[in-house]
Amino acid sequence: MKIAMIFGTRPEAIKMAPLYKQMKKENIEVEIISTGQHKEMLNQVFEIFDIKPDFDLKIMRHDQSLEELSSALINKISPILKQKEYDYIFVHGDTTTTFIASLCGFYSKIPVCHVEAGLRTNDIYYPFPEEMNRKLVGTIAMYHFAPTVLAKDNLLKEGIKEDQILITGNTVVDALNWIIKNKKLEIKNIQKQFGLEDKKYILLTLHRRENQGEVMMKILSGIKKYLSENKEYHLIYPVHLNPNVRKIVKEELQNVERVILTDPLSYIEFVSLMEGSHYIMTDSGGLQEEAPHIGKPVLVLRNETERPEAIRSGVAELVGTDPDKIYKSMKTLNTAKYDDMSESKNPFGDGNASKRITNFIKNKKVNNFLV
Ligand code: UD1
Ligand code: UDP
Repeated sequence: MKIAMIFGTRPEAIKMAPLYKQMKKENIEVEIISTGQHKEMLNQVFEIFDIKPDFDLKIMRHDQSLEELSSALINKISPILKQKEYDYIFVHGDTTTTFIASLCGFYSKIPVCHVEAGLRTNDIYYPFPEEMNRKLVGTIAMYHFAPTVLAKDNLLKEGIKEDQILITGNTVVDALNWIIKNKKLEIKNIQKQFGLEDKKYILLTLHRRENQGEVMMKILSGIKKYLSENKEYHLIYPVHLNPNVRKIVKEELQNVERVILTDPLSYIEFVSLMEGSHYIMTDSGGLQEEAPHIGKPVLVLRNETERPEAIRSGVAELVGTDPDKIYKSMKTLNTAKYDDMSESKNPFGDGNASKRITNFIKNKKVNNFLV
């Protein structure tokens, strides 16, 4: 059996790394086709997990449109699939790499296996273009690895058959466990590097396309208002390399008191910063899954989430993008609510998702893990 894993952005690489390692451990012939949709942020992940892609398609261009990205992906992935005889293609999540790789798999008649399948907001423009990407991959894929029961239910509602779906937990928990076991967390070092030792700090990330522009300015104004009135709080924001994000962040946050801006951090540095933080504010998908695992409350800076499990378990609050609402949520978090949120259980799995997926692809036997 010969497998191609196709991915190209930071979160896909983090969440596919443990699966790749597990497949290698079980002597499955697996190759990584890195599209290089991201560059620096992707290389940071390969380095920390000690992984070398078999193909590097070097797709990234600065500030490229979805159309340019999609056509470049099709033209570069397809020839490899035509030339190599893969039995399965594995893709992850909902990026443009994920969708186009699946489409290329379909054109080459290679069955597609979708990891982190079944997440939905049911609004095709939110998140954009991710909701449509994952729905389209759901239509193409032969096997769907759903992280939770809810994700499986979403797929069943769309007509996917029961025996095509396996509930696995999310591989992000496997990735977190791997990093904590194999690399030493650098909590004190990283805090020292940013002058945050013994400081109460909030960790912020913000990058989604639908938040860019005016929405992002509003979000940041709510956060700034809270910080200006609560001087015991610091804020650190590793800023995504997307130029549309960086421009606004620079205009709105540079030189704001007790705000630290930094370039994207390596996964080990970032997890260390999360561990040492008071809480997290984000529009990222992955952080909504990681924060519960390490017991940190999350304020989700979006109007909808495809990960309602985190909200239901109590660890996350869907705050939205309105500055007053953001300000108020930060204020209420500074109460007993904080303890309730940080004591909630992680609904995203037990760290054995990669083993379940590998076992499935070897035996094709559905044996669901019920979270
Ligand atoms: C992409 C995904 C999004 C995912 C996010 C994770 C799509 C359409 N979007 O969004 O689903 O949540 O990755 O971060 O697939 N850049 C660099 N270096 C890097 C990475 C990005 O310079 O290592 C800059 C480039 O100018 C690039 C721009 O960021 O053109 C945007 O990158 P792109 O992959 O198109 O979108 P993201 O916003 O990163
Ligand atoms: N992350 C990282 N360094 C950073 C910021 C984030 O390693 O400076 C990790 C984070 O722990 C999570 C993933 O990157 O696992 C999230 O990636 P991103 O926010 O780019 O994508 P999303 O989750 O929104 O798809």
